[in-house]
Amino acid sequence: MERKAMCPGSFDPVTYGHVDIITRTSAIFDEVVVTVFDNPNKEHLFPLDRRIDMVRRAIADIPNVVVERGEGLLVECARKRGINVIIKGLRAISDFEYEFQMAQTNRALGNTVETLFMMTRPEHAYLSSSLVKELARHEADISEMVPPEVVRALARRGDSRDGEANSAFQISGGDDR
Ligand code: PNS
Repeated sequence: MERKAMCPGSFDPVTYGHVDIITRTSAIFDEVVVTVFDNPNKEHLFPLDRRIDMVRRAIADIPNVVVERGEGLLVECARKRGINVIIKGLRAISDFEYEFQMAQTNRALGNTVETLFMMTRPEHAYLSSSLVKELARHEADISEMVPPEVVRALARRGDSRDGEANSAFQISGGDDR
């Protein structure tokens, strides 16, 4: 039987921390579906299609990973795909409460999925999408944190920062990853 896992998230934008979790998951499972959602609790900098495109490019060289648009409930997306394992990355204790709540909720929704947590590498423990956006706003070097496509996309957002367009960067990702 094929072992499949789902790596869900909002990926706004994808970081090397995400790429590492996806890569390590792909070494354990036969097929990995990365599902990119809008998170209603966050105001996203990049539209969903753009985020999907950036994740696709970031993992293009991993043969057993596909990237899909997430719609509706995560547990339903997983069920339709015949997936019963959800993998989430954990950076620090601070992630735990949020992730614990989501895992318990997903279980309560149908008991069809198991959520497993993968510890991030220590070098990614500090890394988050919101931090990257904040650094990009200040034109800091983020090339060690995100793939080149994301560096370029964030720089382009920065280029349109004059006047009103600056609102593109007025977005707080909260505790996003
Ligand atoms: O990267 P994020 O923003 O922490 O990911 C959160 C995400 C997208 C995994 C979560 O919001 C989600 O599962 N959304 C799909 C809708 C759903 O099933 N909500 C209930 C989950 S507790």
